[in-house]
Amino acid sequence: MKVYHVPSYDVMSQKAANLISAQIILYPQSVLGLATGSTPIGVYERLVDKHNNGELDCGGLTTFNLDEYCGLSEDDPQSYHYFMKSHLFSKVNINKEKIHLPDASAKDIEKECKRYDSQIEACGIDLQLLGIGNNGHIGFNEPGAVFEGDTHCVDLDESTILANARFFDDPNDVPRKAVTMGMKSIMLAKRILLVANGEAKRAILEKSLYGPITPLVPASILQLHPDLTVVWSD
Ligand code: GLP
Repeated sequence: MKVYHVPSYDVMSQKAANLISAQIILYPQSVLGLATGSTPIGVYERLVDKHNNGELDCGGLTTFNLDEYCGLSEDDPQSYHYFMKSHLFSKVNINKEKIHLPDASAKDIEKECKRYDSQIEACGIDLQLLGIGNNGHIGFNEPGAVFEGDTHCVDLDESTILANARFFDDPNDVPRKAVTMGMKSIMLAKRILLVANGEAKRAILEKSLYGPITPLVPASILQLHPDLTVVWSD
């Protein structure tokens, strides 16, 4: 595990964007696993800047996002489809047909989860970008009795609903369920890049990286990954 403790959110964003750009420049056909949440916004901004400066060609990329809320349409500004479109996909030359997010509005969610896993399996993720929730969740893999391997539908933790309420006009609008990539696809990524920002994340980050490996702290499983890079600022 490589851990970079950097002095600010800007440096965190720059460092992570540099690592992702290096992956894309060396391997233009890379498969990227992508994350949402407030933390990676600066990373996406830097990637867009690099693209606009002519340093980054995203034309060969394939992407898989970690998760999506149930019950929100793709055009809902709170959906992760919309987040990705507005922060990255509409701003770089990515091939829209190679963008993948789980369809959390599918009638048959179980079938959709299986479909998503088989798509990921067929491509394999080269670099997975992750944030971390206040309770140690990655994607929407919430603390629980077991690490869930496959893409699945989750009941969001009360603490996650509260934390994410800041993005919604009315806290009652926060969806109670989501579809998330499971630990298997995350852990099978060749490289993992975890970004975290703010004093509030320090304790959970320390628990995740140096505490016992337990599904009660979902991100603790990352200690078992052979190529984990963490970039964090407090
Ligand atoms: C959501 C996402 C996670 C993300 C987390 C942290 O719950 N599903 O992928 O890591 O938020 O968000 P933030 O970066 O805003 O703290």
